[in-house]
Amino acid sequence: MTTNTTPIRVLFVCLGNICRSPTAHGVFRQRIVDAGLDAQVAIDSAGTGDWHIGKAPDTRARAAAAGRGFDIEDLRARQVRATDLQTFDYVLAMDAENLADLQALAATTADTRARIALFGDYSAAYAGLAVPDPYFGGENGFEHVLDMIEDASDGLMAELNARLAKPAG
Ligand code: 4NP
Repeated sequence: MTTNTTPIRVLFVCLGNICRSPTAHGVFRQRIVDAGLDAQVAIDSAGTGDWHIGKAPDTRARAAAAGRGFDIEDLRARQVRATDLQTFDYVLAMDAENLADLQALAATTADTRARIALFGDYSAAYAGLAVPDPYFGGENGFEHVLDMIEDASDGLMAELNARLAKPAG
């Protein structure tokens, strides 16, 4: 039997860390718990911006997540830092701007190990698409964000399951 003592570390990143990335954090965390993999996969989220540091997720994001059975009440916003690119295995951006900001940070950071990618790259139904910023839109935007995040989470789970199934090296 394989024993992986070092968890795979996944960081979800958006602009403010109060709408999209905490939603991804909460959805994927639930998937990992449901799969019994919480000792093997560690999850966090962060924003490229600093406006909302320390804040709980947006009320609309919390309500939409709760409507699908995901509890994100405990999450608090933080800003992404260079060391995240050295300590996380996957750093997954919600949109092209987040991705470009992360790549710029990586260009000035030594010893990065993270696979920096668009979270949408893991989605089958929304392949390669950005998770659009719902902050200035209506309630429906948050449902669309959840649709995309749930689908991309399925793809990411498949990737991590395959990785965990490989014999420890
Ligand atoms: P998020 O949404 O990046 O999904 O957390 C936003 C939250 C706040 C702002 C923009 C986007 N803002 O401009 O304050």
